[in-house]
Amino acid sequence: MKANIVLLPGDGIGPEVVAEAVRVLEAVATAYGHQFAFSERLMGGCAIDRFGTALTDEVLVDCRASDAVLLGAVGGPKWDDPTATVRPEQGLLGLRKGLGVYANLRPVRVHPDLVDASPLKADRLAGVDILVIRELTGGLYFGQPKGRGRVNGRERAVDTLEYYEHEVRRVVELAFRLAQDRRRKVTSVDKANVLESSRLWRQVANAVAAEHSNTALEHMLVDTAAMRLISSPAGFDVIVTENMFGDILTDEASVLAGSMGLLPSASLGDSGPGLYEPIHGSAPDIAGRGLANPLGTILSAAMLLRYSLNLPREAAAVEAAVDAALSAGARSADLGGRLTTGETTAAVLAQLQQQPAALPA
Ligand code: IPM
Ligand code: MG
Repeated sequence: MKANIVLLPGDGIGPEVVAEAVRVLEAVATAYGHQFAFSERLMGGCAIDRFGTALTDEVLVDCRASDAVLLGAVGGPKWDDPTATVRPEQGLLGLRKGLGVYANLRPVRVHPDLVDASPLKADRLAGVDILVIRELTGGLYFGQPKGRGRVNGRERAVDTLEYYEHEVRRVVELAFRLAQDRRRKVTSVDKANVLESSRLWRQVANAVAAEHSNTALEHMLVDTAAMRLISSPAGFDVIVTENMFGDILTDEASVLAGSMGLLPSASLGDSGPGLYEPIHGSAPDIAGRGLANPLGTILSAAMLLRYSLNLPREAAAVEAAVDAALSAGARSADLGGRLTTGETTAAVLAQLQQQPAALPA
């Protein structure tokens, strides 16, 4: 198969980890007889420096025309002035909205050998296998009105938590679809005791659940969910939730896995290319020092193979290689080890070579 993949390395450690994921994708292409063409574009702080805006129309057009987009991370202290009118994060949000990728899949699994890397007690981590589906193009991030101004002589800021029924329905439906291949339990997280938008969310979730009698739906308030993720994480299967709740809960959930550097994500819409990125940020403090963990981005590339290129066998091979590398003791600095970014990738590539050879399609 031939695929055009746009790379948006971004800022901080973004370029380092994207380069590693490309090494893995190239190895997959060679082993399985695919042709992947990569084109690199600026997005984020680097694009602000060059073009004065985090996401140019040309870059969005190129992304839309691609088969998939692989992103590193955006942002950094250089562009962090709270009074700045252009911000790297605007590029990311513009890209998510511009690609219509309303569902952000963030799987959280605990590798048995990394139980000690998490601050949680080992018995809490047994059996943890969660898929968080975060709504990505609505809610508090995008609702209008949004802005700053003076009202009656006082400085005021407003953000709006807004959802249309169809926005809730499509992401909850996806949660139920993905639950079919899992343990068939969906936890819908909201704040329905306070927020009107959450009461709509809950009603829509109930309506979707009525169409899936083989799958259990539970509702959970977001504050309770934050607690349960730490006290009894193995009780979750699929979690589906509002944009900002999902942002916060997935950083929390990454602690279960031992390091944020391990967690991948896929952002999907109804059609068009998916957007793949690790959930970690640009980590400017360690940029350029070979300390970044590339596994979150490599696992994001695996999700790209699965969801955008429909190559489940290749995706599984990459995931198995990452698991095997961790089992064999590959540890980057965030996991308390000494491997550089490149050495961690090399450990994955070595395992990939031992995977069963590609079968004729
Ligand atoms: C994430 C990040 C982004 C978000 C930031 C960088 C805008 O935290 O992908 O989780 O809030 O969505
Ligand atoms: Mg986040």
